[in-house]
Amino acid sequence: MTAFTLRAAALHTPAPDRLEYWPDALIAVDAAGTIEAVQPYGGETPDNLVALPPGQILLPGLVDLHVHAPQWPQLGTALDLPLEQWLLDFTFPLESRYADTGFAAEVYQSLVAALLANGTTTALYFASIHLPATQILADICLRLGQRALVGRVAMDHPELCPAYYRDASAVEGEADTRALIDYVRAMPGNGAALVRPVITPRFIPACTDDLLHRLGALAAETGCHVQTHVSESDWEHGHVLGRCGCTDTHALGGFGLLTRRTVLAHGNLLGDADLALIGAAQSGIAHCPLSNAYFAGAAFPLRRALDQAVHVGLGTDIAGGAHPSLLDSARMAITVSRMLESGTDAALPHGQRGRAGSRIDAVTAFWLATAGGGQALDLPIGQFRPGYQFDAIALDPSAPASNLYLRAGDAPERMLERIVHTASRANIARVWVAGRSVHQA
Ligand code: GUN
Ligand code: FE
Repeated sequence: MTAFTLRAAALHTPAPDRLEYWPDALIAVDAAGTIEAVQPYGGETPDNLVALPPGQILLPGLVDLHVHAPQWPQLGTALDLPLEQWLLDFTFPLESRYADTGFAAEVYQSLVAALLANGTTTALYFASIHLPATQILADICLRLGQRALVGRVAMDHPELCPAYYRDASAVEGEADTRALIDYVRAMPGNGAALVRPVITPRFIPACTDDLLHRLGALAAETGCHVQTHVSESDWEHGHVLGRCGCTDTHALGGFGLLTRRTVLAHGNLLGDADLALIGAAQSGIAHCPLSNAYFAGAAFPLRRALDQAVHVGLGTDIAGGAHPSLLDSARMAITVSRMLESGTDAALPHGQRGRAGSRIDAVTAFWLATAGGGQALDLPIGQFRPGYQFDAIALDPSAPASNLYLRAGDAPERMLERIVHTASRANIARVWVAGRSVHQA
């Protein structure tokens, strides 16, 4: 039964190269937040008709495939350091503080509210190693109404993880992961699985083979999502080659951690054989262009991944990336793809600087931020289509602090381009998740 019907100008990108725009649409949503129908307005007046204010545009909610929730207090900190030093000197000390559940509650409440205000309707979270604090993150997502996938970080390697911040053993790492899965699946009010648990080995360097094997078996047993970091930087990539004798991707496959519901963060140094393996497993990649500019030492081969039909979406990588809005990640993905295509070193002749055919446009960037993220997560989100969840944002170009200027009569492609490049939190007037209004500016 229809719960409400929204009348709005609406725009979405159902494929990487396809934009659909309805100047005046009716979207019917049922009580479970599922879209029943999308059609052009034809003068009808269904029950519970609500209309967006004139001038506002309805967009699918943004899907952030990579957020480190406990790193929120260090957004924009020490990004001049190499990854391994940033982890040891800043990140692990901060994450260890989430043994304090009061601190966790305060930070996580601030983060989830901020992401919703930025239009992030779905987030895939790394928490910390602490089970109680991770449970608090899941509670807060459910209470504030954000669609969320929450992982307790597993990391037990005694050489790479400091003694003050690691799982006591592989057995305990598995046990606490299992406890989080059981907790999230049984949370009162989570019958529709708005919040889901995620098996989260931090990255191969931080985990023993024993732990990785156990978590792979747990993924097969529970069908849970899986997330980790792969082939992020030269240091990390080289470390895994040295230890495993193969790339992260091949090693993860051997541990049973490459599944349809796996999301691999970064992947800047993935080769064609890695991409083929990821594509065959139908795993996804979280492209985090802001973070990669600091830590990667190379640009993610986004176009190559898309051309091989590998599932890709975008991540902020808070706090490796210093911008909480996924729109910033979308525009940075365009910028990086253009720099990869043209090259950057002016001392080289034009034509030898870059990698031809690397660029993406605003339609693809917006697809990555919405439908692409939904595809990577194997969830029906990111598009206005019957059977999909009504996760949406109302964009207000006339908001007081707007940098977005839209002119009546703009072609839809130009309108979306301007939205991707200039919209910001100031333009997010209202946010819905699963048909529920969860934020209003
Ligand atoms: N690799 C392992 N842990 C992390 C992390 O917290 N951030 C990033 N960017 N890479 C990682
Ligand atoms: Fe990360």
